[in-house]
Amino acid sequence: MRLFIAIEFPDELKKQLEGMHTDIPGSRWVPMEQIHLTLSFLGEVDDATLDPLTGALATIKAPGFDLCFSGTGCFPDRRRPRALWVGLEPEPLLNSLASLVREAVLACNIPQEERPFSPHITLARLKFPAPREVGAFLDLPQKKELPPVRVREFTLFRSLLTSQGAVHTALRTFALSPP
Ligand code: 2AM
Repeated sequence: MRLFIAIEFPDELKKQLEGMHTDIPGSRWVPMEQIHLTLSFLGEVDDATLDPLTGALATIKAPGFDLCFSGTGCFPDRRRPRALWVGLEPEPLLNSLASLVREAVLACNIPQEERPFSPHITLARLKFPAPREVGAFLDLPQKKELPPVRVREFTLFRSLLTSQGAVHTALRTFALSPP
């Protein structure tokens, strides 16, 4: 099964993020129910690995924290944008949670990317670059309308790829300790 580990947000915030949609040619906006902050992407994992993986994730001891939004950006760059995202103000507790999750995943012999954790919430993916419209989106002053968000748990998700797109199912949620 195809797995990833992420932070989920309250519906109210997801609605606000979904409300940031603009009309960009070739864009596929992430539907509200799928908006998340990825901590680790695992890809295809053997069914037999699920138990040890949930066991390893359950041993993570880390405090909850609050996140503030820092505005929008795109990957890989403004000239050839392929994904639009909203970023987060640096939060050391988020980075250390991502490291602990990464270590737990590696301990289950699931490979992880080498590149550093780059926290973002993907809002849209672009089938082809539309730099002018993306530039206009990135220049909108949206971030000040987004309130800080409390993070008190993280979630192991299954992602089922279907002809209608990915369907995400929360398999298990892991509580963080009180901040
Ligand atoms: P992102 O959108 O925040 O970049 C579930 O597929 C999530 O895993 C995606 O939302 C994506 O997060 C992340 N992910 C990271 N690497 C991926 C990959 N190679 N293929 C698919 N998803 C990946």
